Amino acid sequence: MYRRRREFLKDSLLFTATSLGVGGGLLSLVKGRRSDQPSSEPPDASRLDFATGSTYDTREAKTPYRDVTSYNNFYEFGVDKDEPAARSRGFQSRPWTLAIDGEVSQAMTVDVDQLTRWFPLEERVYRMRCVEAWSMVIPWIGFPLGDLLKRVEPTSRARYVAFTTLYDPQRMPGQAAHVLDWPYVEGLRLDEAMHPLAILAVGLYGRWLPSQNGAPLRLVVPWKYGFKGIKSIVKIRLTAEQPPSTWSVAGPSEYGFYANVNPAVDHPRWSQGTERRIGELRRRPTLPFNGYADQVAGLYAGMDLRRFF
Ligand code: MTE
Repeated sequence: MYRRRREFLKDSLLFTATSLGVGGGLLSLVKGRRSDQPSSEPPDASRLDFATGSTYDTREAKTPYRDVTSYNNFYEFGVDKDEPAARSRGFQSRPWTLAIDGEVSQAMTVDVDQLTRWFPLEERVYRMRCVEAWSMVIPWIGFPLGDLLKRVEPTSRARYVAFTTLYDPQRMPGQAAHVLDWPYVEGLRLDEAMHPLAILAVGLYGRWLPSQNGAPLRLVVPWKYGFKGIKSIVKIRLTAEQPPSTWSVAGPSEYGFYANVNPAVDHPRWSQGTERRIGELRRRPTLPFNGYADQVAGLYAGMDLRRFF
């Protein structure tokens, strides 16, 4: 009823404007002002236009939507795999602003729906490999993180990009328990963040991102372990120094800042040599950089990947 009433109001507004013979200028002003307003709900599905057929897509079978959206890690909503979907129902991801500051010339706070007007959306079908040794293939929808970073104009001092998740225990009940240092934080080196494989996702499987997958905005860096893919981001800060990352603070000997998928470096408590693709019976070998070595190995030339894990 509420949505229909809004549609009706919108239509009658436009109808009044046109029937009064108002020129295109005012009409676009009316439309423009409406669409620039931060909204309290995701834009309707028809506005999720995106290009398909990226050269980065894997042709491997996609993990079913049901598994992608019901087997999750999102400790802000609980530590069991089925808790995020159950406990994030009703999570309000609109209105939502993203602040970008630090070593940039154009610091800004922007409404999340403005980002999807600035940057054309693309589908990227990527493998995702969790540090727990399971994996999925997910058709994300998003835009290159580098496009946003270019827009804020990093200064010459910027070397890293730090990300922060929303902190709001009222809306994220898992934050009431001290299982991690809240808010969840992550980081990338600036050149990693500028790599065209790194995207900010706003959707998956042709739909807006479900809350349990990190609505309204999450990072996807497919050559790294899944925990680098920080969800529900409210802040991006460019820094001169390497920022902390939640899991490497929680267990420095188990989770590194780089966290590149590497079958040759085991987790202290399990092998990283193979993985369980969700929906498959037999384990499969884990690939260096999760199969993206051709694209990203050059970023780490000369680095000892056993030391910088
Ligand atoms: N981001 C936040 N804020 N909180 C989390 O607990 N879990 C991480 C990552 N991003 C996590 C997070 C881990 S461990 C993984 S494997 C992926 O999200 C899981 O993403 P998915 O549930 O969409 O598959």
